[in-house]
Amino acid sequence: MEEQRAWWKECVVYQIYPRSFQDSNGDGIGDLNGIRSRLDYLKDLGIDVIWLSPVYQSPGDDNGYDISDYKAVMDVFGTMEDFDCLLAEIHHRGMKLVMDLVVNHTSDEHAWFAESRRSRDNPYRDYYIWKEPVNEGPPNNWASRFRGPAWEYDGRTGMYYLHIYSKKQPDLNWENPRVRQEIYEMMTWWGNKGIDGFRMDVISMLSKDQRFPDGVLKEGNPYGDGLPYYANGPRIHAYLQEMNREVLSRFDWMTVGEGVGVGTREAVQYAGYESHELNMMFHFEHVELNPGPFGKWNDNPVCLRDLKKVLSRWQTELEGKAWNSLFWENHDYPRAVSRFGNDSPGFWELSAKMLAVCLYMMKGTPYIYQGQELGMTNFQGSSLEDFQDIEIHHVYREMVGSGRISHEEMMRYINHTGRDNARTPMQWDDTEQAGFTDGTPWLRVNPNHTWLNVKEQAGRSDSVLCFYKQLIKLRHTMDILVYGAYRLLLEESGAIFAYERSLGKERLTVLCNFTDRTQKSGLSVRELGAGTILIGNYPDRRGISQGDAVALCEEDICLRPYEAIVFMQ
Ligand code: GLC
Ligand code: CA
Repeated sequence: MEEQRAWWKECVVYQIYPRSFQDSNGDGIGDLNGIRSRLDYLKDLGIDVIWLSPVYQSPGDDNGYDISDYKAVMDVFGTMEDFDCLLAEIHHRGMKLVMDLVVNHTSDEHAWFAESRRSRDNPYRDYYIWKEPVNEGPPNNWASRFRGPAWEYDGRTGMYYLHIYSKKQPDLNWENPRVRQEIYEMMTWWGNKGIDGFRMDVISMLSKDQRFPDGVLKEGNPYGDGLPYYANGPRIHAYLQEMNREVLSRFDWMTVGEGVGVGTREAVQYAGYESHELNMMFHFEHVELNPGPFGKWNDNPVCLRDLKKVLSRWQTELEGKAWNSLFWENHDYPRAVSRFGNDSPGFWELSAKMLAVCLYMMKGTPYIYQGQELGMTNFQGSSLEDFQDIEIHHVYREMVGSGRISHEEMMRYINHTGRDNARTPMQWDDTEQAGFTDGTPWLRVNPNHTWLNVKEQAGRSDSVLCFYKQLIKLRHTMDILVYGAYRLLLEESGAIFAYERSLGKERLTVLCNFTDRTQKSGLSVRELGAGTILIGNYPDRRGISQGDAVALCEEDICLRPYEAIVFMQ
């Protein structure tokens, strides 16, 4: 079946984490005017849409994912005038702006919650989820996703409230139609300002199983896993269809939902072409492979066969039914080149480019996280003071504080998967604070900014940055890259990720070596059909039709370490 065209299928998105992108006033925190000063950089890169992580009024317990006023800009980021100006400048350059929508919870400093906790009969009481104690303890055993219990006792009224994240992030009660109307009204307010859509924070968690059953206990954790009772809950699709009717359908928007606990089956419901809910979902299966005994806290290598299986499953199971989103990185995950590639000096650049080819030649809307286009790497911290993230602090306290694992072991895990890896300031140049700020940055700059930065790469045509530009240009000019169907090749290979895209009579093959050794692909040019090389990360591959790419003329195409080639038949 032929895919329907849509602008949000054809665009390339760039995620900005505002605290870490560009500071304009020397306070060490990125801000709106800083972003505005870098718009030409994004335009030049080829970006169509900016997704801006939260800039709303917030006490900053979870870096803005705890909102105390949805219609105000947080003072450290600037003013509403600065925002309007930024939006106008984005539009002026022909780009679009997608905001973060965080409506599973608010901050405990939101006016609604301040009211809600006052008394049991306050008109805002039912805006949140309050329950009586059970056996003098919390109403059930659910764990907070930031560790510890998901319920907080409030002495004022003698009841508990639910907070799936920190206790400063109480969950809204979506069962209450007044809550839903308030949210829709707020979304419409932003829509009338002219924004171009929303990325929806943990949207799969809005509907809780109203029986609030205990979750399964897993070894070593005193709290139970409530995910099956709050992810993809009983009324989630009714809520999103309502939201679509009342708000989304009135705007020409792009919408992407954060799909915690979402598999392909669910994604087809959330983002199906017939569902009237969202345009697409983020799933996390590929970035949460190989968990260890402490879940995401591990330093396990990723198994390529598993990675291929997961990404291919999403490609094929959504084909013709729903649209994919493609990402390696965001503000919650470590740097891809350190995790899926190889950030040692000899392979850093090759593997950063290979990863870009591997993912962004697939079907779906590409998302690039700030700094990924440079191949920014993980950061190596050695003490807890090196980190700011609330999740890291909580898990450290729980695991090391209780003596379950040593400081050294925990640091290895944090350096491998911790969220602050992605949150270090953007590396613009080689000056002391990487051109991010004139002051002291809120989170330390990665010391490798002396050689890994925009300034260096912009001036070098074989840089990761220039490679990203070329890839984006291909996505903009070739329909097959947007709409072509996907088919995995070399399924059994544990070293090469290979696939094909096809649209009508056109066919394109992608070959990526995920190892630091030369690998025979077992594929021959004859088999694949001769063609031209569209892009590759080794400079000597030029175009087999001209006969000057020696290795490709072989019967068995050899891929050098981290080599990526795309060719068109
Ligand atoms: C999402 C955000 C994450 C935040 C959490 C709670 O997962 O991406 O940064 O901590 O929701 O809002
Ligand atoms: Ca600032």
